[in-house]
Amino acid sequence: MGLVKHKWYRFILCTTVIASFIVCYLKLHSLSISKGPMSEHTLEYFLDKGTIQRKDAADIEWYHAANSKSKLTEALQGSAQMIEADVLLRGQDPKVPIMAHPPDNDSDITLQDFLKEVVKSDKGIKLDFKSLAAVSPSMTLLEEVRDQLQGPVWINADILPGPRGTATPLDPHVFLQEVAQKSENDVLSLGWTTGWDVDADNPGYSWEMVHQMEELCRSLKQPVTFPVRAALLHVSFSQFQWLLKQSDRYSLTVWTGKYDVLTVEDLLLYRQNFSKTRIYYDLLESQIKQFKGLPGYT
Ligand SMILES: *[C@@H]1O[C@H](CO)[C@@H](O)[C@H](O)[C@H]1NC(C)=O
Ligand SMILES: *[C@@H]1O[C@H](CO)[C@@H](O)[C@H](O)[C@H]1NC(C)=O
Repeated sequence: MGLVKHKWYRFILCTTVIASFIVCYLKLHSLSISKGPMSEHTLEYFLDKGTIQRKDAADIEWYHAANSKSKLTEALQGSAQMIEADVLLRGQDPKVPIMAHPPDNDSDITLQDFLKEVVKSDKGIKLDFKSLAAVSPSMTLLEEVRDQLQGPVWINADILPGPRGTATPLDPHVFLQEVAQKSENDVLSLGWTTGWDVDADNPGYSWEMVHQMEELCRSLKQPVTFPVRAALLHVSFSQFQWLLKQSDRYSLTVWTGKYDVLTVEDLLLYRQNFSKTRIYYDLLESQIKQFKGLPGYT
């Protein structure tokens, strides 16, 4: 009788242990499925929302420079999934983070008010930092609404000098130090300052530029996207091919200067040679339309 009881006890114990292992495994498994590879969690989110139909970063639409109350309202009502806006410190007191692009130094909307509106929507935001001084107070404001923000948050700054770049980049070490700890679930968008001259040969991104960037990003935990200037891409293919190979956390965000002369055919090389999850296109509406209509675009 005692032996039978003992056997039963062992049987129940074993079954419980095995069952917990299975539950644990399934939980981990579903977690990794729902998150996907790191560079894709923005796509995953909008796919879940049904605002994109497939995991293709070219299907993400951008709203630009939502740096005023009226622009933000328009952005929130529009179809773009991601809202891009610039952040700097107000020129006069109170010197709080505001939504503005230099040379402006004032705005009718502070970052705090901007975030207050964004939390009511399921759109994502890309905050483009134009001054180092704005970073720390902005990260504090962001922390205050973390629980309420639904969409992805991208934190952007130019942190290295790039081709023909004349603006001073934000100090990469200070920027990353202030941002990295407080944005574990964000996408870091880290770029080079650039320039473009219609009347000259415009050099592409050099090996030194991509090597420097990779060194800075290697130890980060977040997905990183590199904003790259569309008109320079055709002369920088080898460099970006190398860069994307260094980590599956890395992606590109192709952007354009308003007056750059861009041949959209040049972008096909990228579209065809990299996973569609790894290249975002933040271009003018007319350029996107033209790009998507090209014979080689699939
Ligand atoms: C802000 O910009 C205005 C207009 O360009 C300028 O007159 C003013 O001096 C600037 N203020 C600061 C504090 O830089
Ligand atoms: C890019 O992709 C195209 C089409 O798939 C292929 O023909 C070409 O060799 C690739 N180029 C490079 C540089 O990988």
